[in-house]
Amino acid sequence: MAAKKPVTVTLTGAGGQIGYALLFRIASGAMLGPDTPVRLNLLEIPQGVRAAEGAALELQDSAFPLLHGVEVFDDPNPAFDGANVALLVGARPRAAGMERGDLLAANGGIFGPQGAAINAGAADDIRVVVVGNPANTNALIAASNAPDVPAERFTALTRLDHNRALGQLAATVGSRVGELRGVTIWGNHSATQFPDLAHATAAGDSVSALLTARLGADGYRAWLVEEFIPRVAKRGAEIIEVRGSSSVASAASATIDHLHDWVLGTPDGWTSAAVVSDGSYGVPEGLISSFPVESVDGAWRIVPGLDVDEFARGRIAASVAELEEERAAVRALGLI
Ligand code: NAD
Ligand code: LMR
Repeated sequence: MAAKKPVTVTLTGAGGQIGYALLFRIASGAMLGPDTPVRLNLLEIPQGVRAAEGAALELQDSAFPLLHGVEVFDDPNPAFDGANVALLVGARPRAAGMERGDLLAANGGIFGPQGAAINAGAADDIRVVVVGNPANTNALIAASNAPDVPAERFTALTRLDHNRALGQLAATVGSRVGELRGVTIWGNHSATQFPDLAHATAAGDSVSALLTARLGADGYRAWLVEEFIPRVAKRGAEIIEVRGSSSVASAASATIDHLHDWVLGTPDGWTSAAVVSDGSYGVPEGLISSFPVESVDGAWRIVPGLDVDEFARGRIAASVAELEEERAAVRALGLI
C-alpha cells in the first residue's frame, strides 16, 4: 500500500499547557490514527515562541515515526498555510478587572486574524476546532472571518463536557464509560450548558429507568437537577479550585477525541460538539452551539428527530440565549 500523505496540523498556543499535553498525542497517532503521518505547525505569540521551540525539541527527541516535521511560527499566515487541521487553543485568559466585553474584544483580535489566515491559505479540507475560551463565540468570530471556508468546518470543543458527563454517569450508575450511549451536551461551553440524559443508556438499558428504579422518580429528578447537571456544567470551575489552574490533560484528551471522531467516524453512536446550527432543535441558524452529533463521511451531522421535552427545551433555550448575547456583543464590537 502507498504511504499516506502527511496531514498538516496547525496548533495555536503551542507553548502553553494544553498545547504541551496535545503535541505528543498528535505525534503518536492518537488523533488521526496509527497510519497517518503528520506535520506540525506551532503558532505562538512572540513571548510564547521559546516554549513552543522547546516542545519542538522534545518532539524530535521522542522519535515518533509518524512525525514528518515541526515548524514554529509567530505569524498566522504561514502557520495556517496548507493546514488540514487547525486546533485553536491559544487565547487571552480573563485578567483581574476585565469585563466580559474586554475578553471578547481581546479574543476578537486573535480569532479574527486567525480566521482570515485560514481563509487565505488553509487546505480545502480544513477542519477547525476552537478550544480557547469563550470557545463557541471565538469559533463564530473565526468562521465569520473566513467567508470562503464552509461554516461547517468551524467547531468548538464541548467534548470535554461530554466526557465529564460520561465520567459522572458511569460513577453513579456503576457502569464503565464504554457502555454508555446517548448522552448529549447542548448549548454553550459555559455553566449554562445542558448535559442531557433523556436518551442515555448504560449497556443498552435506559439510564433514567435504571436510576428511577433505584432512587424513585423524585430522587432521580433531584439527582439530575441538583447534582448531575451542575456538577458537569461547573466542572471547569471545580478543577480550577482543586488544581489551582484550569483543566489541561482532560481538555487535550477531549480535543484528540473530537478530531479523531470527526475524521475517523463515530461507530459507537453520537457524541457532542459545538457546530454551526442549521436551525435544528430551535437553535437559531448560524450560532455555534453544542448538539448531539455523528460523524458521517468525515463531516459532523446533527442527530435529527430526538424528542426534546419541556424541561430540556427550557435548558437549551437558556444556554442558547447566552450564545445570542455573546454574538450580539461581538457584533457590536464589529468582530463579526
Ligand atoms: P496557557 O495560558 O497555558 O496557554 C495559552 C497559550 O496561548 C500561551 O502560550 C499563549 O502565549 C498562547 N497564545 C495567546 N495568544 C495567542 C495567539 N494569538 N496566537 C497563538 N498563541 C497564542 O493556557 P491553556 O491552559 O493551554 O488554555 C488555553 C485555552 O483553553 C484557555 O482559553 C482556556 O480557558 C481554554 N480551555 C478550554 C477548554 C474547553 O473545553 N473548551 C478546556 C480547558 C481550557
Ligand atoms: C474548562 O471547562 O475546564 C475550561 O473551559 C476552563 C474553565 O474556565 O472552565
